[in-house]
Amino acid sequence: MSHLSRISTGPSFRRVADWNQASHGVGLAELDHDHNLIFIALGTLENELRFLRRGATLPKTVKFLDHLTKRHFAREEHLMERLGYPKTGEHREQHGLLTAWMDAVLPSLGEVRRPSYDDAVIAYLSDWWHVHNHRHDKDYGQYAGERFAEDRFAEASSILSECSLYQFAE
Ligand SMILES: [Fe+2]
Ligand SMILES: [Fe+2]
Repeated sequence: MSHLSRISTGPSFRRVADWNQASHGVGLAELDHDHNLIFIALGTLENELRFLRRGATLPKTVKFLDHLTKRHFAREEHLMERLGYPKTGEHREQHGLLTAWMDAVLPSLGEVRRPSYDDAVIAYLSDWWHVHNHRHDKDYGQYAGERFAEDRFAEASSILSECSLYQFAE
């Protein structure tokens, strides 16, 4: 599969897949929960753009996705640092590239009135999460499993509780 899915002006299929344990699970319940929520937010954004176009709730959906993404990245980076995961810098860089892209592109969803543009944005996000999950997130999940052995759930939960998904900026 190419990094960017085929772009058309009106796909008859959904680009955003449902999160599922077998395909996307990283082995840590809290982070699987984060990923599940992000996939739901992505699917909501896709539906909103397709069926409502730029409805009144679009800015809220974008803000929700933005919040979930940034808090989730903060949680992963916090855990990776505490674990001493050797690829933390590289992983953080991947997160930084996506958040910079989102900051630059998502505001224009309300300005560029072309279905093909909306579709390209959703295709990019959908592909990014798929590739990142398989190449990067599963790798720290495996490292955590080896590092914590049978206590991994309790120790990872304890570290992640220091950095909540639901912490909002003042
Ligand atoms: Fe992740
Ligand atoms: Fe990640």
